[in-house]
Amino acid sequence: MSDRSVLLIIGGGVAAYKCLELIRLLAKRGIGARAILTRAGAEFVTPLSVGALTGDKVYTELFDLTAEAEMGHIELSRSVDLVVVAPATADLLAKAANGHANDLASTAILATDKPVLYAPAMNVRMWEHKATQRNLRQLGDDGALFVGPDEGDMACGEFGHGRLAEPPVIVEAIEAALSGGARPLTGRRVLVTAGPTHEPLDPVRYVANRSSGKQGYAIAGALARLGADVTLVSGPVALDAPAGVSLARVETAREMLAASEAALPVECAVMCAAVSDYRPEIETSHKIKKDRGGLTNIPLTENPDILQTIAHLPEGERPRLVIGFAAETDDVVAYARTKRERKNCDWMVANDVSEAGHGVMGGDVNEITIIDGEGEETWPAMPKEAVAARLAARIADALGQKGRQT
Ligand SMILES: Cc1cc2nc3c(=O)[nH]c(=O)nc-3n(C[C@H](O)[C@H](O)[C@H](O)COP(=O)(O)O)c2cc1C
Repeated sequence: MSDRSVLLIIGGGVAAYKCLELIRLLAKRGIGARAILTRAGAEFVTPLSVGALTGDKVYTELFDLTAEAEMGHIELSRSVDLVVVAPATADLLAKAANGHANDLASTAILATDKPVLYAPAMNVRMWEHKATQRNLRQLGDDGALFVGPDEGDMACGEFGHGRLAEPPVIVEAIEAALSGGARPLTGRRVLVTAGPTHEPLDPVRYVANRSSGKQGYAIAGALARLGADVTLVSGPVALDAPAGVSLARVETAREMLAASEAALPVECAVMCAAVSDYRPEIETSHKIKKDRGGLTNIPLTENPDILQTIAHLPEGERPRLVIGFAAETDDVVAYARTKRERKNCDWMVANDVSEAGHGVMGGDVNEITIIDGEGEETWPAMPKEAVAARLAARIADALGQKGRQT
């Protein structure tokens, strides 16, 4: 990607500050950036900070004689491989959908002969408004590319769709667009497990844990966006299947093992689910009555170890890359190191689920350490979507190096 560059159009949204991180991440991947800052965008982020990171003049005005003499607006719109609009405001989407050209940003979008990738960000009502949705459909029909928005808490205090996609996810979309949509995991089969398991005791009670499934679902979605043929085996969670993922819903550990085995062969298995280690020895068909003492002593029996089973499959059947997750509260990395060896995993992803650990269980942020045969890599705390994008890129690199499984 070292000879590739993008024109970043920064619109006037609260999330404009995230474009600084985006430019920094692009530079790390060797992708150059030129920037146009709208007038509204300049209310949120200064040309000075954008220019300091792009190492270039920041373009703001359509009628700027100096800029026109140096590089005309048409030339600017075509001097790169891709135009990225982030944050793409409701206003910029409306202008682009209707072919307006009344400022530098909209003129560049209309004048470019390169693909345009939009990363929308706005209040959830603005996002859901029929006008915005109509504009998005129009832009999609015109061949525009999109990344996000995400769902979550918004700066305005509301909740819903409209949060700017995280910068690592935007980078992933930029790289996919720059490689002509070529997706490095195309044709690769991947299994992802996610969520808790529910182990029934009687018709109304079960043994379970606090896993929300958010990290596993995000990983499945990120792998699918890179072209993988993903089967997501999920315990009971309140999440929709990510786009392009084939979802198998299960309840118990034994069902999860069966569904995982049914998904084989795969080249990579990402075993993110929080599988219950034990289940009640007996499942009764009648509700156990409290006054008869049946709940004071519940004999448990061990569940099958899904990760261990998949990772110990004979050569040829075992996925080339088996990734386990270790959610711990104490000595997280030390425990994950021994777990990796014991379970015969290629990578173990350790995360701290203690109170101090960002409320990982059920939360939206994760801080992980990846332990592989070569060492350890700790990533800073980041949204689970961003962890997923980065992990999917790491998986794509690793499978690329290992070659294709025949
Ligand atoms: C504090 C504040 C925050 C705003 N945040 C957003 C936003 O996140 N998304 C959006 O579409 N518009 C947002 N707006 C409205 C835009 O700034 C406004 O529509 C502006 O005309 C957009 O100009 P531009 O599209 O040329 O950047 C915000 C306005 C204010 C005052």
